[in-house]
Amino acid sequence: MPKSLVVLSLKLNQQNNLVMTNFGCHGAGLGLRTPHLREVLRDNPDVPWFEVHICNYLGGGLSKALLEEINERYTLSFHGVNLNLAGIEPFDPDYLKRLKEAVDSLNPAMVSEHACFTAINGVHFHDLMPVPFTKQAVLHLSERISMIQDLLGRQILIENLSRYYRYDESEMSEGAFIAEVSERSDCGLLLDLNNAYVNQCNLGESITGFMAELPLDRVAEIHLAGFTEQDGQLIDTHGSAVSEEVWQAFRLFNQLEPDVPALIEWDNNLPEFSVLMEQRQQAQNILDEYSRVKEAG
Ligand SMILES: [Fe+2]
Repeated sequence: MPKSLVVLSLKLNQQNNLVMTNFGCHGAGLGLRTPHLREVLRDNPDVPWFEVHICNYLGGGLSKALLEEINERYTLSFHGVNLNLAGIEPFDPDYLKRLKEAVDSLNPAMVSEHACFTAINGVHFHDLMPVPFTKQAVLHLSERISMIQDLLGRQILIENLSRYYRYDESEMSEGAFIAEVSERSDCGLLLDLNNAYVNQCNLGESITGFMAELPLDRVAEIHLAGFTEQDGQLIDTHGSAVSEEVWQAFRLFNQLEPDVPALIEWDNNLPEFSVLMEQRQQAQNILDEYSRVKEAG
C-alpha cells in the first residue's frame, strides 16, 4: 500500500467514532445554471439533485417562481460565495435576512459556503480570498460559521479553496486548518477535489496529504470541476470537463469514504446540457462502483 494510503487508513481508524453527517442529497448532482433552466423544466432530466448558486437567486438572477418549480421536482442544495464567511467585518444584515428567508421557504438539503473572505473595508472582490492558516483564524472562522448555523438553525458545509500563493503567517496546513474549524464549529465539509488538485500542482501540496488531515466523515459533498492551464499555473476556471487526475482523486476518496454525494461544477464556457449529463453519469458510475465494493465488503 502506498505511504499516503497508509496515513489515510490510520487517520480513518482514529476517526471511526465520529458520526457520519448526512444532509439529504444522494448520488451525483449538477450545478443548475440559468441557460439550462428551460431544458431542465421541459425534460425533467434524471438528476438526483441540483446545486443552486444562492447569490444568483438572491441577486435577482433566478426568479422565485422558477426556483420553486425546480424545488418541487428536485432536491436542492444552496451554494454561496458572497457571505464573506472569513471576513473581519460584520455580516451584511440584509444578505443574512434574505438568505434565511430563502432557506426557510425552500428548505434545501444542504447549504454551503467557502472558507474565505470576499470583502474588506467595504471593497468587494470578485475572487474568493483564502485566509492565513493560523490559530487566530481558526477561532475567527469557527465563530462566524457558528453564527450562521445558529441563524439558519442547521449545519452548513464549508468548502476548501483553490489558492495561488501562500501566506508567510500560516501556522498549519490547509487540511489541519479545515479540520480544526469543522470540529470547533461542528460544520460539515464540501471537499472540492479540483481545488485540491490545483493547489497540488501550483503549490506542491499533496492532495492525498490534504485528504489525510480532513475528518472525512464530515465531508457531505464533493465538487468535481475543470481547470485551465495558463503560464504554467492551473487556474480554477470551472470552464472545462473534469480532468483525469481529478477523477483519480475522486476514486481515491471513494475508496476511503464511499456514498458521499458529488457535484459536477461547470460555470464558464457552458456546454450543452447533455455534456453535463455525461459528466454526471461518469461521477455516478464511480459512486456506484465503490458503493458496491462497500456492500460486498
Ligand atoms: Fe467548488
